[in-house]
Amino acid sequence: MITFILNNKIITTSEHSGMTLLDFVRYEQRLTGTKIGCREGDCAACTVLVGELKNGSIEYQSITSCISPLGNAHGKHIVTVEGTNLKDKLTTAQEAMKANYATQCGFCTPGFVVSLTGFALLNSEKNYSNALDAISGNICRCTGYKAIEKAAHQVVEKLDNQNNIDWLIQNEFIPEYFKTIPKRLGDLEAKDRNQPKGKYVSGGTDLYVQQADHLADNEVHLIAEKDYLKGISIKNGICTIGTNSTVSDLWNHSELSIHFPNLKKHLKLVSSEQIRNMASLGGNFVNASPIGDMTIYFLALNSDITITNENGSERNLPLKQFYQGYKTYDLKDGELLKDIHFKLPTQSTFFNFEKVCKRTHLDIASVNSAIQITMDNNNILEAHVAIGGVAAIPKYLHETSAFLIEKPLTPDTIIEANDILQNEISPISDVRGSSDYKRLLGRQLFFAHFTELFPEAFTLNDFVQHA
Ligand SMILES: Cc1cc2nc3c(=O)[nH]c(=O)nc-3n(C[C@H](O)[C@H](O)[C@H](O)COP(=O)(O)OP(=O)(O)OC[C@H]3O[C@@H](n4cnc5c(N)ncnc54)[C@H](O)[C@@H]3O)c2cc1C
Ligand code: FES
Ligand code: FES
Repeated sequence: MITFILNNKIITTSEHSGMTLLDFVRYEQRLTGTKIGCREGDCAACTVLVGELKNGSIEYQSITSCISPLGNAHGKHIVTVEGTNLKDKLTTAQEAMKANYATQCGFCTPGFVVSLTGFALLNSEKNYSNALDAISGNICRCTGYKAIEKAAHQVVEKLDNQNNIDWLIQNEFIPEYFKTIPKRLGDLEAKDRNQPKGKYVSGGTDLYVQQADHLADNEVHLIAEKDYLKGISIKNGICTIGTNSTVSDLWNHSELSIHFPNLKKHLKLVSSEQIRNMASLGGNFVNASPIGDMTIYFLALNSDITITNENGSERNLPLKQFYQGYKTYDLKDGELLKDIHFKLPTQSTFFNFEKVCKRTHLDIASVNSAIQITMDNNNILEAHVAIGGVAAIPKYLHETSAFLIEKPLTPDTIIEANDILQNEISPISDVRGSSDYKRLLGRQLFFAHFTELFPEAFTLNDFVQHA
């Protein structure tokens, strides 16, 4: 049985856990405020909030319900647009949309309202930039974004940097019943369920785009709530991240941000807030897309992975040895990726991530790349370079990385390294660009790493004139 609270009502259902949450709320519960646009996580018309009890209070996040399995709602509070409604009046987010003429046909409006309500509930600074992040995955086809941005601005002003539930109720952001949810969720009989054998599903953001119908009708093995795949720990200079950690878990980890000062800037390039809230590292690695952003990121960190099987025995492998060919990798039936671990950067280590895609938000890369470089004065002590979108696998550049070691950090070294990089890659022409274009991007991103990391030493002209 799947048990959860949907808006103000306890649900216990024997429905198939692989059914999408969207279909359950619309077709089983007749909550048709949650809209269906793309069914691929791309428009956020289907946005709902998921609240999880943590240390006695509830943390809410927005997700796209069209690519989320119903079973992942077990033990949680799910809020649809109907669940944000007040009696006989508009909520503050609804009023902001209305007052700023931010709705025309209205199809996208419930999604925007839920995202803005989620922003109000989120434990983050209530500034305009964060409000725009919260709606960066929502698409509107007819109003135009300026009016919606004004509505977001109004929400920020009304919030006055508050996210306390009582304050939000008093100020008409959410209805009164939200106050009862922590106790009711704590009392909910939502024990661990026996999971059937079947396809492993974590966030579902890759699988439900690829095979939603199949998953809805077949057994799925939901792993998102498995504790032994969770958590981020830092000990003796080693960071270990459970593969169920989502991109948002990395984003919210304050200690990680100290070691990677540009973490949020880099993660902002990954999908949208709704998708980041669901997208796990394990899913990114095992999806094995040649352009997986997290895969490229962790390849350049020279990470190792722990693989576990059903009997609990474990083996370790460098991530760079995991990939064998297009979408093939070293994982046997019944094996799971358990965690990823890597040495944290030191004072003399520099890390950078670059991504080029057709639009800033919610787009996969044409080419992406990451580098980690350790310096000894002006000499390179260690280098790890990874690049995506230019080979059948997410590519660790063995030869380019090896070449850089013990070389002085000069334009000549970097230009020569690019020649090696160009020999190591084999891009193909596809919808993301021609082979020549991707080679050019590979070069520019490689150069960009150095201008970004050492702005006082290099400008792009130092490389381009000679390359
Ligand atoms: C709208 C949209 C935008 C996106 N944008 C980006 C983007 O900008 N950058 C990017 O890199 N990706 C992007 N993605 C892809 C996707 O979100 C990521 O790859 C995500 O990290 C996948 O994680 P998941 O938990 O959702 O995977 P799932 O769909 O649950 O699983 C994916 C695969 O991994 C397997 N799996 C999951 N966890 C484990 C584990 N621990 N051990 C073994 N196997 C496992 C599953 O069986 C499945 O084969 C986007 C997806 C969508 C829908
Ligand atoms: S329907 Fe478009 S994101 Fe869900
Ligand atoms: S108001 Fe029509 S799609 Fe946004």
